[in-house]
Amino acid sequence: MDLVTGIKERRSIRKFQDKKVPRELLEEIVNISAYAPSWKNTQVARYMIVDDEQKIAELANEKVAYGFEGNVAALKGAAAILILTYVKGRSGYERDGSFSTKKEDRWQMFDAGIAAQTFCLVAHEKGLGTVIQGYFDEDEIRKVVEIPEDQEIAALIPIGYPDIEPAAPPRKDASKLLTFR
Ligand SMILES: Cc1cc2nc3c(=O)[nH]c(=O)nc-3n(C[C@H](O)[C@H](O)[C@H](O)COP(=O)(O)O)c2cc1C
Repeated sequence: MDLVTGIKERRSIRKFQDKKVPRELLEEIVNISAYAPSWKNTQVARYMIVDDEQKIAELANEKVAYGFEGNVAALKGAAAILILTYVKGRSGYERDGSFSTKKEDRWQMFDAGIAAQTFCLVAHEKGLGTVIQGYFDEDEIRKVVEIPEDQEIAALIPIGYPDIEPAAPPRKDASKLLTFR
């Protein structure tokens, strides 16, 4: 699959087949995702993948999803859930711990966002569906899965073999998005 096709045809997938995803495949996707760019190549993104059925069931609850039923359903039906985190205090920081720019700590979420999109595109190329979820309660997730204190959660990403082929939601084109100066 060429890059442009992959970018255009990747969709958010919220319904999955009842089929496990091999760990080797997930490992391969992470190894490719590691080529995503990051602040001074700090590579702060971490990929914690929950593929244990019991743990998935525990994560798929209303408190984790802020009561958003659509997210609960996607989590429940997933073969695996990526808890995408970043190591705090490196991306966007100087060695002495001060912020490098006026964006302060926001570069770490920026890096995590690039990692998320890269992971989702590679997963798509490998025949997997994903959906980035922003509606999640970090404290509730930490009750189910142990996450190192020096990391913060950037997104939850349910993963699985797609059971739907959604049409692309409409996109703005360059006439609305682009300005030249
Ligand atoms: C930062 C971010 C947060 C999102 N949060 C959610 C979410 O909580 N639940 C959900 O179903 N989709 C979520 N989405 C997916 C968007 O709704 C989706 O990308 C958008 O509608 C475009 O559809 P497409 O991904 O199929 O192109 C999120 C996407 C992003 C980038």
